[in-house]
Amino acid sequence: MHAAVVTTFDAPPRYLEHPDPAAGEPDELVVDVVAAALHPRVRSQANGSHYTSTGDLPLVPGIDAVVRDADGRLRYALLDDTALGTMAERTVIERRRSVELPDGVDPIAVAAAMNPAMSSWVALRRRIDFTAGQSVLVIGATGNAGRMAIQVAKRFGASTVIAAGRNPERLADLGGLGADEVCTLGELAVAADVDVVIDYLWGATAERGIVDILTRRADRSHPLTWIQIGSITGPTAAIPSAALRSCRLSIVGSGVGSVPGRDYIAELPAIAEAASSGAFDVRARSVPLSSVESAWTEPLASDERIVFVP
Ligand SMILES: NC(=O)c1ccc[n+]([C@@H]2O[C@H](COP(=O)([O-])OP(=O)(O)OC[C@H]3O[C@@H](n4cnc5c(N)ncnc54)[C@H](OP(=O)(O)O)[C@@H]3O)[C@@H](O)[C@H]2O)c1
Repeated sequence: MHAAVVTTFDAPPRYLEHPDPAAGEPDELVVDVVAAALHPRVRSQANGSHYTSTGDLPLVPGIDAVVRDADGRLRYALLDDTALGTMAERTVIERRRSVELPDGVDPIAVAAAMNPAMSSWVALRRRIDFTAGQSVLVIGATGNAGRMAIQVAKRFGASTVIAAGRNPERLADLGGLGADEVCTLGELAVAADVDVVIDYLWGATAERGIVDILTRRADRSHPLTWIQIGSITGPTAAIPSAALRSCRLSIVGSGVGSVPGRDYIAELPAIAEAASSGAFDVRARSVPLSSVESAWTEPLASDERIVFVP
């Protein structure tokens, strides 16, 4: 078969011949890949920088996909970090980490939506006790995961969602997704009284944002839960000790590890149902897997997700 193969961490994957997979464990299925999206997490898998990277090469990247099983059913499958991911004509999935999709779904849209939607869905459902009526600030709201976070927070009954990003033109679109207010990254103080922050940027943005928000907060004893999900503007952030002492601030992360695998699996059917029914506004562009090498490096709008089709 053909696959996107990483042979060195300092170059994009290449479309190469690759050995056909075989199932090993009883729960494993060999499946045809229908659509596999290029999430930021897949880029960090392919360049060896993700915290789960083992450094082993060669590898076929891809952490999830819409696949077709031997009975002809479409499934959405999540994969562990493995040498054989989803950017291949065929791969191996675990049945328990997959969910059947209804007939007639758009596989490209589902493949594009699931990972970004899951980031906020699992964070709000499984990492904190989010309740309807709470208010939310999304930092990094113009990207795929941020756009989903607005929609997910509203779906879960958020009273107000404030969407923050660096690009005013992209921010202007977010009202259509349910954002009640938008602001630039220098204006995070407008969200001084929110209950929950969903942060895809971290780094210097969070450093400034935490201080801007807490110093303007009307009631500092009112809980603020800051959920760290992505680190696009930096892997570290210096948080003043006073921020933690003088305010009821909790900082938690949400991702593989801090959320157990069984919690992701438990939420899969509901997220897949939402994605399959077209509940999410998602921007996807399908690209033949044979073009993986050029597509990997082409400039792309951050609100558009590439989905490879073998
Ligand atoms: N932990 C998890 O479960 C989980 C799951 C999914 C994603 N993530 C992480 O979440 C992050 C976002 O994912 P995504 O799918 O939304 O990525 P994406 O679609 O590529 O969006 C990137 C976002 O970051 C913004 N951005 C990029 N460079 C920036 C800079 N220098 N300053 C300010 N903003 C900047 C973009 O703004 P513009 O629109 O202005 O370009 C856009 O809003 C990634 O780090 C990803 O790995 C984590």
